[in-house]
Amino acid sequence: MKRHPFILVAATVVATLALAHTMGCGAARSARSLAAEKVYVAPGELDKYYAFLSGGQSGSVFVVGIPSGRLIREIPVFEPRAAYGYAMNDNDPRRQELVATGGVWGDTHHPVLSETNGMPDGKYLWINDLANGRLARIRLDYFEADRILKLPNMQGAHGIAVVSPNTKYIVVNGEFEQPTDGLVTNPAPYTSVVSFVDPDSMQVKFQVRINGNIDIADTSKDGRYSFSTIYNLEQGKDLGSMIQYDRDAVAAIDIPAAEKAVAAGRGEVRNGVPIIDPETNPGVLTLIPVPKNPHGINVTPDGRYAIASGKLSPTVTIIDAHTLKIVAEPEVGLGPLHTTFDDRGNAFTSLFLDSQVVKWNIDKAVAGKSDYIVDRINVHYNIGHLQAVGGDHMHPAGDYLLALNKLSKDQYIPVGPDLPENQELIDISGEKMKMLSSFPTVPEPHEATFMAVSVLKPLVHQTFTPASDAVEAGKERVVRTGPHAVTVDMTLIRSAYTPDKVEVREGDQVTLKITNVETIRDMIHGFALPDHNLNIALAPGYTKTITIDAGKPGVYWYYCTNFCSALHLEMRGRMVVQPKDSTVTLPDWHAAANVQGQVVPGVPSTGAKQ
Ligand code: CUA
Repeated sequence: MKRHPFILVAATVVATLALAHTMGCGAARSARSLAAEKVYVAPGELDKYYAFLSGGQSGSVFVVGIPSGRLIREIPVFEPRAAYGYAMNDNDPRRQELVATGGVWGDTHHPVLSETNGMPDGKYLWINDLANGRLARIRLDYFEADRILKLPNMQGAHGIAVVSPNTKYIVVNGEFEQPTDGLVTNPAPYTSVVSFVDPDSMQVKFQVRINGNIDIADTSKDGRYSFSTIYNLEQGKDLGSMIQYDRDAVAAIDIPAAEKAVAAGRGEVRNGVPIIDPETNPGVLTLIPVPKNPHGINVTPDGRYAIASGKLSPTVTIIDAHTLKIVAEPEVGLGPLHTTFDDRGNAFTSLFLDSQVVKWNIDKAVAGKSDYIVDRINVHYNIGHLQAVGGDHMHPAGDYLLALNKLSKDQYIPVGPDLPENQELIDISGEKMKMLSSFPTVPEPHEATFMAVSVLKPLVHQTFTPASDAVEAGKERVVRTGPHAVTVDMTLIRSAYTPDKVEVREGDQVTLKITNVETIRDMIHGFALPDHNLNIALAPGYTKTITIDAGKPGVYWYYCTNFCSALHLEMRGRMVVQPKDSTVTLPDWHAAANVQGQVVPGVPSTGAKQ
């Protein structure tokens, strides 16, 4: 067949252009396209992983989709959040709980997932509040904080970890030392404790006393040991006296030995919790000397080694997790803080001072080979924690790694002297690490953990299961229960409040029990009450009860804060507050017309009849 000469010329030009495209600036563009493709999740498509990120001083947990980096949800925990109607009013039980346990702010550091057989089971996520010594539990079927525990006998709840493989306890390290006997008059050195918390009852079962500041925690994969990095073995109370010794330690608590001591009644009970003193209970605690001021401690997915990061030393210390002997101490770079793992025997350590992630081969480092460093990648900047998908569990995925960086410097458009903090997603599926994307965050990124969407998504509830005291449609009512007390049982459904009028008197305490009776997922209604510092957001099936002061005389329109329907703006009602000395007779409220004419008898609401 004879080809037209023009076709040949054209084909050659196209081929040349294609070649040029894959070289030079074309190659750079191609690398960008490949990275973009790895993180691009098209509208309507779902991410592959849930990432749970501690919100730091935001006191919450951020749920981010991976690989997109999109913020999907914030779970408020230790701080009020108007957007979710969380702990807003002084009389909100959750707010009162926060006030009683330390305050309406928190410093969340380490999210850990409940495990079955060493893998996340999607039941719970725990998060600590370093500042006020608390541990919160989040139910993953509702993505809601359900329990908040104030840890006794300790301050500065820092490192936390789940006791593998089946979540026997949550370990919580007390970082700030306290007088040994709990009294400020004690001249003896301060000490601290590691708490072992029951995952279901959220009660501290026992504590183990340790000298020094107890920092980060992890556990052996067989449930035998809880490992913690310890600094300030000197028990100094100022910087100079904290850095006298050559080495600090990794503390290994033998959990069965500690349990045995507790069962034998060898704990000193304080605030209802037995504290085991290792000095009088040999075998409970082993101190493994490591370079000064270690920070992270991470157990390899196969459970063979616990790896302590040097922080001030450019090394990591590899400890045999069964014999507790140090097997190697390889150099990795400046400022090693934390380590995570892939599924191919590699470790990834964050280097705070070098602003790098270093990838190194564990077996080669243990064997003393010189070529254990596999790769390094620059991050932006001053990385703290890092976590690979599944790196904190028994079967890492080996695909993505998240770098949680303390500073972003030049990475984002300037927004005043204070800049956002930075998280970067790195592809670790190949020999060389590849930077994929970055996304900013509010202060301060601490730690992350991941769950596959395919595992967790089926476990997430569509609606709340109505509580036993939920208000049923048709049974709404307003009842005067005392001279200065009114109870309102209210339901919400598109696009009305029932009742849509509540009449009370100045000085009344108004108890609102509100149920969203929607049964369709995502049909959230709000209940915002002007000038009463009150916003409640109610997901379908949710009931919330709160008592508020009626406030000053006037008419207050409660309205829906969550756009729910074409009549969303019309979704409102009135709380009418009559003056104290008003002679108006307050009518009982009777069922509204939309409640099929059912009349709910109320207690007469005039002050005179009380
Ligand atoms: Cu209900 Cu908007």
